[in-house]
Amino acid sequence: KLIDHYFYDEAAYDYHDGGYVPLEIPDVPQQKLNVPSLLKPDKETDTDMYYTITAQTGEVQLMPGEKTKTWGYNAPLLGQTVVFKKGKTIHVHLVNHLPEVTTFHWHGLVIPGPIEDGGCHAPVYPGEEKDISFKINQPAAFVWLHAHPCPSTAEQVWHGLACGAIIQDEHEAQMPLPRNYGVDDIPIILQDRRFHEHNQWDYRADYDPDGVMGPTPMINGTINPYFDVTTQKVRLRFLDGANRREWRLHFSDDLPFTQIAGDLSLLPHPVKMTKLMITCAERQEIVVDFGQYKPGDVVTLYSDDTPLVHFRIHEFAPDHTTIPTTLYNTPDPKVDADLPVHHVTLDGMDESVAMNGKKFQMQRIDYQMEIGQVQLWDILNTNDKPGMIHPYHMHGCHFTVVSRNGHQPNPNELGLKDTIVVNPQEHVVIKVWFPVPGVFMYHCHIIEHEDGGMMAQIKVVDPSDPNKQYKLMDHHT
Ligand code: C2O
Ligand code: CU
Ligand code: CU
Repeated sequence: KLIDHYFYDEAAYDYHDGGYVPLEIPDVPQQKLNVPSLLKPDKETDTDMYYTITAQTGEVQLMPGEKTKTWGYNAPLLGQTVVFKKGKTIHVHLVNHLPEVTTFHWHGLVIPGPIEDGGCHAPVYPGEEKDISFKINQPAAFVWLHAHPCPSTAEQVWHGLACGAIIQDEHEAQMPLPRNYGVDDIPIILQDRRFHEHNQWDYRADYDPDGVMGPTPMINGTINPYFDVTTQKVRLRFLDGANRREWRLHFSDDLPFTQIAGDLSLLPHPVKMTKLMITCAERQEIVVDFGQYKPGDVVTLYSDDTPLVHFRIHEFAPDHTTIPTTLYNTPDPKVDADLPVHHVTLDGMDESVAMNGKKFQMQRIDYQMEIGQVQLWDILNTNDKPGMIHPYHMHGCHFTVVSRNGHQPNPNELGLKDTIVVNPQEHVVIKVWFPVPGVFMYHCHIIEHEDGGMMAQIKVVDPSDPNKQYKLMDHHT
């Protein structure tokens, strides 16, 4: 069956918001899509990988005229793509060359918190260097690294601190799927910016407590990009790295494509579609088959009516591979019978955002679970209809989606997730279990809502070390 509509409440789409900034077609010549290079490990053995990640300032020729001042990881803007191999222990040397405190949050990695996870309790001060290590024990997926110093996560991500990371495993490696990075396997990081005088960004000037937006689409840090297609099939790893914007993706000619993965795993079964909505922090992976086109043709990826990427078709060899009908067996642990459903409410808009009626506090633990426990969480968006959609995210775990207002989840959200869209007045029930200990945050991933206090934190206890203490920071201001 072909999915030809976006899931979710049209009445709550971002373009209904009073502060909505429509996308505009950038008035600049097309430029080659920046495909971030793969970050070279400092060293790799059969069991360990070593990386250095430096948060730095830079400038980039994004628009004709003056360069834009930006931030990035081992790059002037965004970052080089990190590769993690399942089963290996990763050692990361973190370096802060920025003029202010930052943190290095691995969004989607199931690793201990709060230090390795890199949320707001793991500051790295200007000029400081720190070392962390963790083991990768989760399936192949596309995750990301972003800054998370509360309450300036949104501003630092806007400056450019966001970067993709690919987890590889043997199961995915055996699938007949494109994975030649840079050729037929491409990250597509979707962001939007407003260019002010001298081509600079000005977060404060653009501030909106419901999420900052800009009119210019920026894809992998490229304005008005094209990509040279040299294979019949191309895998696109979409990441919504925008502070606020949802992207309603579709191609010219209503070209069908196949979704193969969500946030944290392959989907159990591929989903054929012509339309795909992605909201803040989510990842969706698709395979596009350009078999019906010939050299010289151009296929365009749009969000609503705005072109995002122009795929220029070149000569390619015919590809007769088919995507297997079963890709992944999503784990489905049994819920602990003695644990009642845990309720989370996402409340309000603007400055009044909260979670369960409370604003986030760095020193307050809002909930506790043990490693190994499995519980249903009911996430409710208390906004009246038509209000905003909240993309709900959890650190330190992967979860599955059980139901939406009592109905089946959408077919493209049946793998492991870390972020899930919740419509106004909707209850989304998810199954939650934590494999690693620590203090972790969970929050709305409209980043200004997160900074504004629609966030809480959980302590996950390891029963073999139940009294472990964690140092919780204050707001870094
Ligand atoms: Cu993408 Cu709290 O993180
Ligand atoms: Cu996260
Ligand atoms: Cu929100």
